[in-house]
Amino acid sequence: MSRRRVAILISGRGSNMAALIEAAKAPDYPAEIALVISNRPEAKGLERAKAAGIPTLVIDHSGFGRDRESFERALDAALKAHAIEFVCLAGFMRLLTPWFVGRWENRLINIHPALLPAFKGLDTHARALAAGVKIHGATVHFVVPEMDSGPVIAQAAVPVNEDDTAETLAARVLAAEHRIYPMALRLLAEGRLRVVDGRCHIVDARAAGGLLLAPEI
Ligand code: GRF
Repeated sequence: MSRRRVAILISGRGSNMAALIEAAKAPDYPAEIALVISNRPEAKGLERAKAAGIPTLVIDHSGFGRDRESFERALDAALKAHAIEFVCLAGFMRLLTPWFVGRWENRLINIHPALLPAFKGLDTHARALAAGVKIHGATVHFVVPEMDSGPVIAQAAVPVNEDDTAETLAARVLAAEHRIYPMALRLLAEGRLRVVDGRCHIVDARAAGGLLLAPEI
């Protein structure tokens, strides 16, 4: 089976990137991580990717001034040059324009640290605590022009504990992120996701197994 060529876009520490790289080491995994791109030269994740033998690129957005599209054209050209088929955002802290999102429609996914559509945007863990929710989690979704709004592929739920801080809750959610992102990319690379009317359907869903991770009580 030929493996689908995937790029991961990062801006920071890259722990989700590392989870995807680890998953892709399995011989039966349907994707290979062929490229890691950071928009920040100092991103810690770059070192982790290099240590894993993955080709890396820095495309520094600050070199493009305020012109988002020229930055994205450079991104798009690099992805094409490496024959990338799917793109995973993993802590990539740049909003992407409708132009870029349109070019990668249904081939571009993101992980968000909340159970969407709740808590879109930043500081999700502090906001979940402030709201007093008892269950929190993470979502892998297709990217659409509107932030944190695309069709949901997979979700993981974690309990919110009475004594949680934003940091302890973030750590629990992050561990769940590392489990669902590789599962979601597997389904995408296997060609088992169909987006219809803004919803993502999973072909042969029963065999997909464990796409909803629930808290252990
Ligand atoms: C994760 O919590 C992810 O959900 C969010 O940004 C964070 C990135 O962490 N989009 P890492 O760089 O993958 O460690």
